[in-house]
Amino acid sequence: MSVPRPTLGVFDSGFGGLTVLKALLEHMPGADYAYFGDTARLPYGSKSAETVAKYAAGAAHFLEQHGAQLLVIACNTASALALPQITRACSLPVIGVIEPGAESAARASKSGTTVVIGTEATIGSHAYRRALESRGIKANEKACPLLVPLVEEGWIDHPVTEQVAQIYLQEGFSDEFRSSDVLLLGCTHYPLLRALFRRIVPPNVTVVDSAESTAKVILDLLLNSPPETMPGNERRRPPRFQFFVTDSTEKFRRLGERFLGHSIDDVQHVDLNE
Ligand code: DGL
Repeated sequence: MSVPRPTLGVFDSGFGGLTVLKALLEHMPGADYAYFGDTARLPYGSKSAETVAKYAAGAAHFLEQHGAQLLVIACNTASALALPQITRACSLPVIGVIEPGAESAARASKSGTTVVIGTEATIGSHAYRRALESRGIKANEKACPLLVPLVEEGWIDHPVTEQVAQIYLQEGFSDEFRSSDVLLLGCTHYPLLRALFRRIVPPNVTVVDSAESTAKVILDLLLNSPPETMPGNERRRPPRFQFFVTDSTEKFRRLGERFLGHSIDDVQHVDLNE
């Protein structure tokens, strides 16, 4: 895509996709961003594929109409359950987080066995397992539904969260997956628990984050559009953000800062018809 200063559309079920936006910003401060958080209808992680596909397709269409030139499906659940439907709903290039996450995990694994964690719906879809198996890597998938609400509660470094994560991971790293050397974080909220996971997993285990992996893939894609081609002023100006949410803008601003790591302005409420 050879756009001098691209607008990247970032879609998520709510706040979590801001971890992906954060990773995108670190790699691509020279882009503009339109973020859509479907906060009125989260969580997606406990919903059916049909429902997630319907919601996500509507959001994709919205972002296309609001200037996005490339669509990043930050939500692991939507990427796992509805990537073909999202792709059909708009005429933009669409990138989900599953393939980039699986590719990084496959590269990082020497033992050929990995543990993947995510929401109930992501894990139930086996999208990560398929993506890893197609690269010759075995994956034990473990749903960790309690972690999303704990992160949204702000219990990032809390003993209860640590205990819950420990119980999930004991099951993840059991039996033939005891020797797994990669933990793949397959949910937008888990990068906030990176330090906590690091404390729990054995030192030889690499923690791979699908947000970070996706940002690198998109950077590669945009390398067709080197900064040299941009006018000087355009190149230097900071990124522009537009945030669209389907529920309270005030709550998004407040909670979102925790995920993005800096303050959030210019949040607009939108009402998408089902
Ligand atoms: N964004 C979702 C994901 O990455 C987590 C939150 C939700 O269930 O909506 O799977």
